[in-house]
Amino acid sequence: MNHLKIAIASDHGGIALRKTIVKYLQETKIDYIELGPETSESTDYPPLAFTVANKVTTNEVTHGILICGTGIGMSIAANKVPGIRCALVSDTFSAHATREHNDSNILALGARVIGPGLALEIVETWLHTEFQGGRHKKRIEQITAYEKESET
Ligand code: RB5
Repeated sequence: MNHLKIAIASDHGGIALRKTIVKYLQETKIDYIELGPETSESTDYPPLAFTVANKVTTNEVTHGILICGTGIGMSIAANKVPGIRCALVSDTFSAHATREHNDSNILALGARVIGPGLALEIVETWLHTEFQGGRHKKRIEQITAYEKESET
Protein backbone atom coordinates (compact mmCIF):
# COMPACT_ATOMS: atom_id res chain seq x y z
CA MET A 1 0.00 0.00 0.00
CA ASN A 2 1.36 3.40 -0.98
CA HIS A 3 1.50 6.21 1.56
CA LEU A 4 -2.04 7.46 2.20
CA LYS A 5 -2.94 11.12 2.50
CA ILE A 6 -6.60 12.05 2.81
CA ALA A 7 -8.48 15.31 2.29
CA ILE A 8 -11.72 15.14 4.28
CA ALA A 9 -14.54 17.68 4.26
CA SER A 10 -18.14 17.96 5.33
CA ASP A 11 -20.93 20.46 5.33
CA HIS A 12 -22.91 21.19 8.51
CA GLY A 13 -24.85 17.91 8.08
CA GLY A 14 -21.67 15.84 8.39
CA ILE A 15 -19.62 17.47 11.13
CA ALA A 16 -20.06 14.74 13.76
CA LEU A 17 -19.24 11.93 11.30
CA ARG A 18 -16.27 13.93 9.94
CA LYS A 19 -14.89 14.18 13.49
CA THR A 20 -15.39 10.44 14.04
CA ILE A 21 -13.47 9.66 10.84
CA VAL A 22 -10.70 12.17 11.66
CA LYS A 23 -10.27 10.43 15.04
CA TYR A 24 -9.88 7.10 13.19
CA LEU A 25 -7.30 8.68 10.83
CA GLN A 26 -5.36 10.02 13.83
CA GLU A 27 -5.47 6.70 15.69
CA THR A 28 -4.30 4.79 12.62
CA LYS A 29 -1.64 7.42 11.80
CA ILE A 30 -3.01 8.27 8.36
CA ASP A 31 -2.11 11.78 7.13
CA TYR A 32 -5.04 14.07 6.45
CA ILE A 33 -6.17 17.60 5.66
CA GLU A 34 -9.50 18.54 7.26
CA LEU A 35 -11.89 21.07 5.74
CA GLY A 36 -15.39 22.14 6.66
CA PRO A 37 -17.23 23.99 9.36
CA GLU A 38 -16.62 23.69 13.09
CA THR A 39 -20.08 24.88 14.01
CA SER A 40 -23.49 23.74 12.82
CA GLU A 41 -24.13 26.90 10.79
CA SER A 42 -25.46 26.12 7.33
CA THR A 43 -22.61 25.63 4.81
CA ASP A 44 -22.79 25.06 1.05
CA TYR A 45 -21.31 21.70 0.08
CA PRO A 46 -20.21 22.36 -3.56
CA PRO A 47 -17.14 24.56 -2.85
CA LEU A 48 -15.93 22.01 -0.28
CA ALA A 49 -16.38 19.17 -2.76
CA PHE A 50 -14.45 21.11 -5.44
CA THR A 51 -11.60 21.91 -3.03
CA VAL A 52 -11.18 18.26 -2.05
CA ALA A 53 -11.55 17.10 -5.67
CA ASN A 54 -8.83 19.49 -6.82
CA LYS A 55 -6.48 18.26 -4.09
CA VAL A 56 -7.00 14.74 -5.43
CA THR A 57 -6.50 15.61 -9.11
CA THR A 58 -3.33 17.61 -8.36
CA ASN A 59 -2.01 14.69 -6.24
CA GLU A 60 -1.78 16.82 -3.10
CA VAL A 61 -3.62 13.91 -1.48
CA THR A 62 -4.16 10.29 -2.51
CA HIS A 63 -7.85 10.04 -1.58
CA GLY A 64 -10.77 12.30 -0.64
CA ILE A 65 -13.66 11.75 1.77
CA LEU A 66 -16.76 13.96 1.51
CA ILE A 67 -19.68 13.95 3.92
CA CYS A 68 -23.03 15.71 3.78
CA GLY A 69 -26.48 14.77 4.99
CA THR A 70 -27.10 12.25 2.22
CA GLY A 71 -23.70 12.19 0.53
CA ILE A 72 -25.55 12.87 -2.71
CA GLY A 73 -24.83 16.58 -3.12
CA MET A 74 -21.15 16.08 -2.36
CA SER A 75 -20.87 13.19 -4.84
CA ILE A 76 -22.68 15.08 -7.61
CA ALA A 77 -20.40 18.11 -7.16
CA ALA A 78 -17.16 16.11 -6.89
CA ASN A 79 -17.96 14.12 -10.03
CA LYS A 80 -18.09 17.38 -12.05
CA VAL A 81 -14.30 17.68 -11.64
CA PRO A 82 -12.45 15.88 -14.48
CA GLY A 83 -10.43 12.98 -13.15
CA ILE A 84 -12.67 12.43 -10.15
CA ARG A 85 -14.46 9.14 -9.62
CA CYS A 86 -16.48 9.78 -6.49
CA ALA A 87 -18.48 6.86 -5.08
CA LEU A 88 -21.39 7.35 -2.70
CA VAL A 89 -21.26 4.27 -0.49
CA SER A 90 -23.56 2.91 2.24
CA ASP A 91 -22.35 -0.71 2.52
CA THR A 92 -19.03 -2.54 2.83
CA PHE A 93 -19.49 -4.61 -0.36
CA SER A 94 -19.68 -1.43 -2.45
CA ALA A 95 -16.76 0.04 -0.46
CA HIS A 96 -14.34 -2.60 -1.75
CA ALA A 97 -16.03 -3.13 -5.13
CA THR A 98 -15.76 0.55 -6.04
CA ARG A 99 -12.02 0.54 -5.33
CA GLU A 100 -11.45 -2.77 -7.14
CA HIS A 101 -13.58 -1.97 -10.17
CA ASN A 102 -13.95 1.83 -10.44
CA ASP A 103 -10.65 2.98 -8.88
CA SER A 104 -12.76 5.56 -7.05
CA ASN A 105 -10.63 8.37 -5.67
CA ILE A 106 -13.24 10.05 -3.49
CA LEU A 107 -15.64 8.39 -1.04
CA ALA A 108 -18.92 10.18 -0.28
CA LEU A 109 -20.90 9.32 2.83
CA GLY A 110 -24.36 10.32 4.03
CA ALA A 111 -24.21 11.21 7.71
CA ARG A 112 -28.01 11.11 7.96
CA VAL A 113 -28.13 7.75 6.20
CA ILE A 114 -25.59 5.50 7.93
CA GLY A 115 -24.32 5.32 11.50
CA PRO A 116 -20.74 5.94 12.63
CA GLY A 117 -19.89 2.25 13.08
CA LEU A 118 -20.80 1.32 9.51
CA ALA A 119 -19.18 4.50 8.18
CA LEU A 120 -15.86 3.58 9.83
CA GLU A 121 -15.98 0.06 8.38
CA ILE A 122 -16.65 1.55 4.95
CA VAL A 123 -13.76 4.04 5.29
CA GLU A 124 -11.34 1.37 6.47
CA THR A 125 -12.35 -1.02 3.68
CA TRP A 126 -12.25 1.67 1.00
CA LEU A 127 -8.85 3.03 2.04
CA HIS A 128 -7.23 -0.39 2.14
CA THR A 129 -8.56 -1.93 -1.07
CA GLU A 130 -6.53 -1.67 -4.28
CA PHE A 131 -7.76 -1.18 -7.84
CA GLN A 132 -7.76 -4.53 -9.66
CA GLY A 133 -6.90 -3.16 -13.10
CA GLY A 134 -7.32 -5.77 -15.84
CA ARG A 135 -10.70 -5.56 -17.58
CA HIS A 136 -11.66 -2.64 -15.34
CA LYS A 137 -8.79 -0.47 -16.60
CA LYS A 138 -10.29 -0.19 -20.08
CA ARG A 139 -13.57 1.06 -18.60
CA ILE A 140 -11.84 3.76 -16.56
CA GLU A 141 -9.97 4.77 -19.71
CA GLN A 142 -13.31 5.11 -21.53
CA ILE A 143 -14.52 7.53 -18.84
CA THR A 144 -11.26 9.51 -19.00
CA ALA A 145 -11.43 9.65 -22.81
CA TYR A 146 -15.01 10.97 -22.64
CA GLU A 147 -13.91 13.68 -20.20
CA LYS A 148 -11.10 14.70 -22.57
CA GLU A 149 -13.47 14.79 -25.60
CA SER A 150 -15.95 16.91 -23.63
CA GLU A 151 -13.25 19.50 -22.79
CA THR A 152 -12.75 20.41 -26.45
C1 RB5 B 1 -28.07 20.08 3.81
O1 RB5 B 1 -29.30 20.35 4.40
C2 RB5 B 1 -28.19 18.91 2.87
O2 RB5 B 1 -28.87 19.31 1.73
C3 RB5 B 1 -26.81 18.39 2.51
O3 RB5 B 1 -26.14 18.02 3.66
C4 RB5 B 1 -26.77 17.20 1.59
O4 RB5 B 1 -27.57 16.16 2.05
C5 RB5 B 1 -26.96 17.47 0.17
O5 RB5 B 1 -26.95 16.57 -0.68
